[in-house]
Amino acid sequence: MCGIVGYIGVKSNPLEVVIEGLKQLEYRGYDSAGVAFIEDSKFRIYKEVGKISNLEAKVKNIDFSKVSNLAIGHTRWATHGGVTVPNAHPHISNSGEIILVHNGVIENYSVLKEMLVRKGYYFYSQTDTEVIVNLIEEHIKEDNTFEDAVILSVKELSGTFGLVISYLKEPDKLIAVRKGSPIVVGVGDNESIIASDINAIVKHTKNVIYLEDGEIAIVRKDDIKTKDFAGEDVKKDVFVVDWEIESLNKGNYPHYMLKEIFEQPVAIENCIRGRLLEDEGAVKLGGIAKLENYIHKIRKFVFIGCGTAYYAGMVGKYVMENIGGILTEVDYASEFRYRNPMVSPRDVVVAVSQSGETMDTLEALREAKRKGSITMGIVNVVGSTIAREAGMGIYIHAGPEIGVASTKAFTNMMVAIIMLSVFVGRRKRLGIFEGREIVSNLKKIPELVEYTLNTTNKITNDIAKEFYKSRNFLYLGRHYNYPIALEGALKLKEISYIHAEGYPAAEMKHGPIALIDENMPVVVIATKGSIYSKIISNIQEVKARGGKVISIVNEDDKEISKISDYVVTVPNTIEVLSPIINVIPLQLLAYHIATIKGLDVDKPRNLAKSVTVE
Ligand code: M6R
Repeated sequence: MCGIVGYIGVKSNPLEVVIEGLKQLEYRGYDSAGVAFIEDSKFRIYKEVGKISNLEAKVKNIDFSKVSNLAIGHTRWATHGGVTVPNAHPHISNSGEIILVHNGVIENYSVLKEMLVRKGYYFYSQTDTEVIVNLIEEHIKEDNTFEDAVILSVKELSGTFGLVISYLKEPDKLIAVRKGSPIVVGVGDNESIIASDINAIVKHTKNVIYLEDGEIAIVRKDDIKTKDFAGEDVKKDVFVVDWEIESLNKGNYPHYMLKEIFEQPVAIENCIRGRLLEDEGAVKLGGIAKLENYIHKIRKFVFIGCGTAYYAGMVGKYVMENIGGILTEVDYASEFRYRNPMVSPRDVVVAVSQSGETMDTLEALREAKRKGSITMGIVNVVGSTIAREAGMGIYIHAGPEIGVASTKAFTNMMVAIIMLSVFVGRRKRLGIFEGREIVSNLKKIPELVEYTLNTTNKITNDIAKEFYKSRNFLYLGRHYNYPIALEGALKLKEISYIHAEGYPAAEMKHGPIALIDENMPVVVIATKGSIYSKIISNIQEVKARGGKVISIVNEDDKEISKISDYVVTVPNTIEVLSPIINVIPLQLLAYHIATIKGLDVDKPRNLAKSVTVE
């Protein structure tokens, strides 16, 4: 969850590169940050609690003329030890000669710590990380080279780690290590940048090497060697990243989240481009072409993911069963991996993930592979671990998503899942006319999303002003839009800290109806569809108990508008595509409530963008 950056090269101010990189990674963790570099043959370390800007203020007056050509940095999301300066990274060994930054969790750190304490080591922090740096020192003392000492040490660690390590006596290199936590090395012109994800790198180079688990990289400014933990050389491919640096800036928007909400028309356009075959009522998905070979043997699909990605998978269950015509399950990745799931070589397990690095999703994918299932990824970050390990997949092409609350990735996940369902359906029970209807309407979705953004932004802001002091919210939806109720509630919870629950509208009378009184705003997704009339009854039940109803309805709606307290209108589309439109006002409502409350929507408390620990 932490962000790490290392730089070695010819820039006169390596710290600038590292601080810039940390800012791009701040969404990975933001409770404290630190940097280190070499000056006068000593490591200099600066750490601060809070945002990177606090750290930046502290280092801005350093005279860089005497500073080395390397620097490392870290932005922390605390696991072991509280949010304090001593617990912030980098961590330095007792001799002061080795320093490192770490992303991950060392499970056997207390045993190792005891062993090192017996040997006379002193520990200054409560972190698991300080053990690693002293373990490397101990192996160097035993006459091992820096490289061998790192390999010997990491072999003794259990848990997960992405590391960037520097040794004072060998300032021409940094060593990066990966086991369970992502590490990418940027191959620049006379410079190399190591980071936990590509956001910190793309400003300097688009050529990157992804380390796999159990690999180390010996990184010099003009040379990168990779090895496995047995010390054997490993040959790596260089990937070219297609993200533009502009997409990593907020532009004229006050927050990344708002920018990303408004980027959705373009993001969806990028997701469908070249993939829709209108005449055939079909789709072309190069990344899953080999699924064709199994299509008539498939017993079921299982979507796995966490948080918002899980809700996209839930939409997938409805869509795949309806238009794909195949049994479909959905599971939290964290539950799937530990509950001995019933999957077989005839089942397709689909890992859904924006980052492609979420630990629970990755491990669930690996579990599905161990069970021999067919696996695929629906992923945003190109070259990420899930994308690489899934075997086949669909990139959602949403572009970089920086806001911790996922928005454009969610809509694009749904779009990708709908295309996957058409792919399967057209080889099974979906006829050409139904296929054409879905495909031609999907083509219009970017325009409709644009329209929805423009028409619902003000009204959701007005509604936010009425309800920002509410302590609870209920979100109701049915069928395809039940997961949208859950997603609307999640958005509100994570950025506004208001308790919210999503419920299938008809389930309300089986319990949650007891919560309803005049203080309970109830957001109802009530656009036209097969169970529209049932939703009307559900709204009446809320009204009869004094609840305040905020309805999301179609523009030509007559009935629900009459019985609701607040109405947000959205354009019509076919029912299967309605979740893509209906989530837009819910994203905006959450955003406006959080900003009216003065909260930092891009970095909500306690959260991190990529959850790379279990
Ligand atoms: O990167 P992933 O899509 O795998 O992330 C999964 C969840 O951690 C993520 O969706 C999380 O729930 C977001 N904060 C939701 O806005």
